[in-house]
Amino acid sequence: MKKFVKMFTVAALFASWSFAADYTIKLSHVVSDVTPKGKAALFFAKRVAELTNGKVEVVVFSNAQLHDDDSVMKALKLGNVHIAIPSFSKFTSLVPEMQLFDLPFLFDGPDGVHAVMDGEVGQILKDKVTAKGFVALDYWDAGFKHFSSSKKPILFPEDASGQKFRIMSSKVLEEQTKAVGGNPQVLPFSEVYSALQQGVVDAAENPLSNFATKKFNEVQTSLTLSNHGYLGYLVIMSERFWSKFPNDLKPLVLQAMSEATAYERDAAAEDEAQLLAQMKDYEAKAKDFTIYEMNDEHIAAWKKAMEGVYPKFYKTIGEDLIKKAIEVQK
Ligand code: LMR
Repeated sequence: MKKFVKMFTVAALFASWSFAADYTIKLSHVVSDVTPKGKAALFFAKRVAELTNGKVEVVVFSNAQLHDDDSVMKALKLGNVHIAIPSFSKFTSLVPEMQLFDLPFLFDGPDGVHAVMDGEVGQILKDKVTAKGFVALDYWDAGFKHFSSSKKPILFPEDASGQKFRIMSSKVLEEQTKAVGGNPQVLPFSEVYSALQQGVVDAAENPLSNFATKKFNEVQTSLTLSNHGYLGYLVIMSERFWSKFPNDLKPLVLQAMSEATAYERDAAAEDEAQLLAQMKDYEAKAKDFTIYEMNDEHIAAWKKAMEGVYPKFYKTIGEDLIKKAIEVQK
């Protein structure tokens, strides 16, 4: 028996040696594994393993297990983490022009977003990220953001007045909140649930995927389908890591990434209806959660209240870039 156990242990060790990958890519993000971003990160890991015959392993750290979006930038620089997928707002201190994506009511639906990301504007912004010493890969989707609150349903801009809003680290989002008399509080994503639960903040803005997968419906009493702004991502890689990565394996990793990008964008589009149905189900069962829709009158009031935000960023983002983003959607 002892001999058998010994043989088995040696065989298991041998197997793990022979299957061990030659290279490991550490990928860090802050949302759940079942969001479009989370699913696509796992899909990318699977495709890298397949395409490289197991030579390269991608280890995914989701839910901010390893880093939140601020500390991940430093970790990428040092080469401690190799890929991150921060939302646009998280680039504010690095490439302030990236706040273009945070401008309220800039995009005409998902097609408008993609026209901007995949066109000249998207490339200009990628180049700025590259100039800061990162490898800028692909743009991924989350979706349009919706307001939620536990204080008062947000339908007209006046409803936001006096409410404390959790926002991402973006000056545009700060100004957007102030424009309607709200009080903006920057918090990392990993702290949003408890901040809403404990009343540190009253309100938030999230795409349905983040709202539903983090169960923010449990700590908010209203969700308004406002579609007032967009949340998406730029996948970035550590330059320090990539410059030393074997050249023969690079095209395979990049192929896996472009497949993951297509997968991610499809998942984001497909999940939307199902997530809304899930939230409506919850609304039907819960006593204290209501979903509101905005009509044209509401939207016109919001656009008017927020129109002053754009000129404040003509210098930081570039008036030209904002105009190009509007133009390409026409
Ligand atoms: C947030 O902080 O709300 C988002 O950036 C989280 C994410 O990565 O979707």
